[in-house]
Amino acid sequence: MFAKIYPVLKPANNRALIDNETYQNWYRESIENPERFWGEHGKRIDWSKPFTKIKNTSFEGDVSIKWFEDGETNVSYNCVDRHLATHADQVAIIWEGDDPSLSKKITYREVHEQVCRLANVMKARGVKKGDRVTVYMPMIPEAAYAMLACARIGAVHSVVFGGFSPDALGGRIVDCESTFVITADEGLRGGKPIPLKNNVDKAIDIAARGHIMVKDVIVVRRTGNPTGWAPGRDLWYHEECAKVSADCAPEPMNAEDPLFILYTSGSTGRPKGVLHTTGGYLVYASMTHQYVFDYHEGDIYWCTADVGWVTGHSYIVYGPLANGATTLMFEGVPNYPDQGRFWEVVDKHKVNIFYTAPTAIRALMGAGDDFVKRSSRSSPRLLGSVGEPINPEAWEWYYHVVGDDRCPIVDTWWQTETGGIMITPLPGATDLKAGSATRPFFGVKPELVDGEGRVLEGATDGNLCITDSWPGQMRTIHGDHERFIQTYFATYKGKYFTGDGCRRDEDGYYWITGRVDDVLNVSGHRLGTAEVESALVSHHDVSEAAVVGYPHDIKGQGIYCYVTLMAGVQGSDELRKTLVGHVRTEIGPIASPDKIQFAPGLPKTRSGKIMRRILRKIAEDDFGALGDTSTLADPAVVDDLIANRQNKK
Ligand code: WT7
Repeated sequence: MFAKIYPVLKPANNRALIDNETYQNWYRESIENPERFWGEHGKRIDWSKPFTKIKNTSFEGDVSIKWFEDGETNVSYNCVDRHLATHADQVAIIWEGDDPSLSKKITYREVHEQVCRLANVMKARGVKKGDRVTVYMPMIPEAAYAMLACARIGAVHSVVFGGFSPDALGGRIVDCESTFVITADEGLRGGKPIPLKNNVDKAIDIAARGHIMVKDVIVVRRTGNPTGWAPGRDLWYHEECAKVSADCAPEPMNAEDPLFILYTSGSTGRPKGVLHTTGGYLVYASMTHQYVFDYHEGDIYWCTADVGWVTGHSYIVYGPLANGATTLMFEGVPNYPDQGRFWEVVDKHKVNIFYTAPTAIRALMGAGDDFVKRSSRSSPRLLGSVGEPINPEAWEWYYHVVGDDRCPIVDTWWQTETGGIMITPLPGATDLKAGSATRPFFGVKPELVDGEGRVLEGATDGNLCITDSWPGQMRTIHGDHERFIQTYFATYKGKYFTGDGCRRDEDGYYWITGRVDDVLNVSGHRLGTAEVESALVSHHDVSEAAVVGYPHDIKGQGIYCYVTLMAGVQGSDELRKTLVGHVRTEIGPIASPDKIQFAPGLPKTRSGKIMRRILRKIAEDDFGALGDTSTLADPAVVDDLIANRQNKK
């Protein structure tokens, strides 16, 4: 089958930065001569000490990745101070509140002052270069100030998504040994308060059991509702910031000094602390932001992600601010007060570039076109998609209805680990196909391999690897370099393995087909099946659990749990509710199981390995083709699983 081709639509009258010929030339150069290419583009940020070395990377042996390794710079300087001479009064952040009547605009000058003050508060409380600081915030400008203040003094931030539970937060505080937390009294989403500070209090108790004693908690007053308070430990953000100077010199940082840790789920074990460093990350985030979104000075840019995910790091905060852009930060949700909110905000702030996730597009598509048509949407020039494969129906709706056939769509494939966008159209250069992330960005060398690691050529399906380093790549897993090597470079020796399956078509376009490991993608949020399983078995009624994903119309994937109960415990709807609630408290609402099937036994091989392939098929209600079940220890369990499946069509 051949996909329809949407020829290049130049965003806003031929002003695209990169045309196809330039793409081809730059791409060739970036692959043939990465030193020359990145030596040139590395200069797009300011260095207090220019680099002389460019690329020093190896995917073999101990895996060592260094870019611009003798250069010195500061990310906060590049995102703020650098723009003051010419753009001090330009709006850096437009904040749109959950309540549609609340919004504010913050200039680069104001961001500078706020970041300096918070940096001084942290210094005064003893935070030093290299210390880890946990940020657990709603979508308010102070979240960006917190990140930039850390970067300014060389502290390493670990932003934890505000939807994660106290347990998940506590685990992350312990893993990176962080004793300083920045939070807010409450968040506000869809009119509902989120008890951030009270969650922090619980997380601190949990962390104490792991022998990490949190010493300072800086609290932004957002709703003003009462919360727990530990005198001496807890401090109001506004009070502390008022006491310190509005100037703070940026700390010179080596290009390879850590910038942040961000936890993400893998196929096994607990979430991993993905570590990104300073120079290469910023070069890559800012360069991809400029070219993928065809960013021009004066553009109003809106990425709807949360700062708790990598998309928020690279494309709400670091990329746009490094480019001196105006970045919109939205506190609310797509369906509050109603499903027209996104388009209302687009009109209200005259957004030119709009970047969101397929799950939101599908949900809004389901609400009907009237919510869209109510707005003019005359400002957007470009639309983006990220986080999961976008199905062609959603793509077409986004293109025709939201974009009025006028805006190119950039379907951007990347990962927490990659730091920035890896496979994507460039708006002025790439013909589009609905559902394809199209072609690699500069410096990205994709390769498809089969299960044995044999390289596949031409139009084919395979496992997606990247064969050489790019500046935005993660450098290690915090505290566990061996796990870094094992997770990413051991499956296919000498290559970075993404965990994604992918098809390359006859035009060399890439179509990501989804994870081939035990990682779920639920509404664009990444979850390990092992995490949900361990949350389930931590309940006293559960003896064993196996979790798989199944196709879900809105969420992309739904969470299907097979649960074996303790002897004597009876399965019931009541217990299903209890277990859903239990997983929500253990991990957070994003991990809520969609289906729970009580299973007296799970299909295991004689060596005791659970055969997930079979469980996936049954969850998809596609048990006609279970494949070979002869290696099962007890083939009869399969009949029971089929008879009691929860997803009958
Ligand atoms: C996984 C990474 C990095 C952005 C947010 C998610 C899936 C991401 C796409 C896309 C198809 C995509 C992949 C990837 N994914 N973007 N455009 N098309 N799949 O970051 O939480 O690290 O998840 O999201 O499966 O491996 P993440």
